[in-house]
Amino acid sequence: MSEKQCIDFLLSRRSIRVFEDRDVPTDLLLKAIDVARYAPSARNSQPWRFYIVKRRDILDKLSAIHGGATPLRRAKAAIIVTSVPSESPASHQVDAALAAMYLWLALHCLGLGAVWIQTLRNVEEVRSIAGIPSSEVPIAILAVGWPAEKPSPKPRKPLESVVKIVE
Ligand SMILES: Cc1cc2nc3c(=O)[nH]c(=O)nc-3n(C[C@H](O)[C@H](O)[C@H](O)COP(=O)(O)O)c2cc1C
Repeated sequence: MSEKQCIDFLLSRRSIRVFEDRDVPTDLLLKAIDVARYAPSARNSQPWRFYIVKRRDILDKLSAIHGGATPLRRAKAAIIVTSVPSESPASHQVDAALAAMYLWLALHCLGLGAVWIQTLRNVEEVRSIAGIPSSEVPIAILAVGWPAEKPSPKPRKPLESVVKIVE
């Protein structure tokens, strides 16, 4: 892959919130999770777990945890990324967030659309809906499906407003 193709790929990822009414094979989700395992983590602790959810009743319950979770109503699957604090006490949340980002990019490689659904204000609720033990923290839910929208890129802050050169 050329430098341009690689950068174009990264710039082409979007939050996808509208999905086709078409199943997402579990094999494809496993393929993406397999890649997500290669995310970096503190001391290579890999303090993450991935919960594949395809049951409609569970997806619907998750879609009601807050107003921004409604894409789960149309999603054919979700992957809940959790962290295990005991395996990386100082940075389990960062580690699992990196795995979630790798997962999002891997899904994009496979032609699947996804959006990150916030969980951090609804930790107990997500645990209880999905049967996640209290030893794990749900860091993100990725709602997943075949894209049925092509959103334009969201505006970004100008480069010069976010870069400081330390001299
Ligand atoms: C930590 C985090 C939480 C997010 N929570 C939600 C959410 O609950 N619902 C949603 O529709 N999008 C959510 N998003 C997606 C963002 O709105 C989206 O990434 C941002 O607007 C930029 O758009 P883009 O992903 O298409 O580049 C979240 C993203 C992150 C990283």
